[in-house]
Amino acid sequence: MADQLIAGIDIGSLKIATLVGLKSEKNQELRIIGFNSSPSRGVKKGLIVDIDEVTSAVEQSIEKAERMAGHKIHRVFVSVGGPHISSLNSHGVVAVSNPQGEIVEEDVERVVEAARAISLSTTKQIIDVSPRDYIVDGQAGIKNPVGMTGVRLEVNTHIITASQTNLKNIDRCLTELGLGNSGFIFAGLASAEAVLSDTEKELGVVLVDIGGGKTDVCLFVEGALSHSSSIPVGAKHITNDIAVGLRISLSSAEKIKLALPEFLHSKNGKSKKDTVVDFSQLHLQEPVENVTLKTLVDDIVAPRLEEMFKLIFEEIDKSGFGDSVPSGLVITGGGALTVGMVETGKRVIGLPMRIGTPEGITGLVDEILNPQYATTVGLLLYGQKNIMEPTDKWKNFNRILRDFSFGGSLSKVKEFFKQFVP
Ligand SMILES: Nc1ncnc2c1ncn2[C@@H]1O[C@H](COP(=O)(O)OP(=O)(O)OP(=O)(O)O)[C@@H](O)[C@H]1O
Ligand SMILES: [Mg+2]
Repeated sequence: MADQLIAGIDIGSLKIATLVGLKSEKNQELRIIGFNSSPSRGVKKGLIVDIDEVTSAVEQSIEKAERMAGHKIHRVFVSVGGPHISSLNSHGVVAVSNPQGEIVEEDVERVVEAARAISLSTTKQIIDVSPRDYIVDGQAGIKNPVGMTGVRLEVNTHIITASQTNLKNIDRCLTELGLGNSGFIFAGLASAEAVLSDTEKELGVVLVDIGGGKTDVCLFVEGALSHSSSIPVGAKHITNDIAVGLRISLSSAEKIKLALPEFLHSKNGKSKKDTVVDFSQLHLQEPVENVTLKTLVDDIVAPRLEEMFKLIFEEIDKSGFGDSVPSGLVITGGGALTVGMVETGKRVIGLPMRIGTPEGITGLVDEILNPQYATTVGLLLYGQKNIMEPTDKWKNFNRILRDFSFGGSLSKVKEFFKQFVP
């Protein structure tokens, strides 16, 4: 059988990244064959604010990725994030269609459909429904009810919604470029797929993707997605603070921010933080004199990081699952590379913390194994595993069996269900 071409486009506030992969039919491995990252235009805090600008930026990125892959892209998974994202946990109940027999696939589909029936503002649209656990005749905590006997089937689901206007704008942009939409995926959820381990999800963990203009948060409890949201603050605010603090341009501030770890390293530790930094190698537009590393790291960057972590803490607190995440926080997105991120985070939140780098792919990967591309990589990983393509019925069902989808053993699931096919 032929390998399947899968593509994803991450429309970020600062960059637009396209990734093209081939999924092997033999071993389900995802091999990257094309990639491009271009500066983003027309996007603010995850929202499209200028459709023409975004369309031309997406076109450029897609064309370059196609050229590298040597394949035309027809359909893409698309990331959505930003403060227009909200989530809720919903419950569904159905009577099992054949109470004498076993619960079948259709019952599971019906109960998930029942949980989707929530009252929703007309400006919002559901983009993801993740079953958290099933309940058969009052017995809770069931991961896969198919094959069990019972009369009443219930499900607890996590539902993510997004602004309908924003989704329509993305669709318009894709249609203009002749591209099909394989599915919208919440950027935080895509990143989680690329950087979290199954063990972390089982124990309870918070994924935090700090992008340029926003921070996406996804919380997992007992392996199940339990809270999703987005905070309108990103790493661009750190650049702004440096620009304001030193009275310099944003581009010079960005250069200084990216060079900070190197300066710290070469100064060999804290004791030299008080020496004045020599910025000559950065070729800044304007002269910057008499600035110490202490001013930059402790007085400008750290307070902003503290503020960001306070907002993240509030978000975790609001979810009601603050006590159920012993694995702590996994920070990803370009902002994760900010100097002092882990130390400040641990201090403010008081939970374990690590930087998450995307995993789970092979091929042309060197450049994309960077926190900045967690969402981009996750789009392909999550998309291929969880979202139905018209050609593959089983994928959709795999989507609603939580244990299998997290285990990543799609082929096993297919084999299991093949026995029911006449
Ligand atoms: N090595 C680094 N050190 C510090 N900051 C970095 C580094 N690399 C990237 N960043 C910062 O990460 C941010 C961009 O992150 P990312 O590419 O994840 O954003 P995005 O996906 O375009 O935006 P968003 O997700 O908010 O829509 C920028 O503010 C950039 O300065
Ligand atoms: Mg992003």
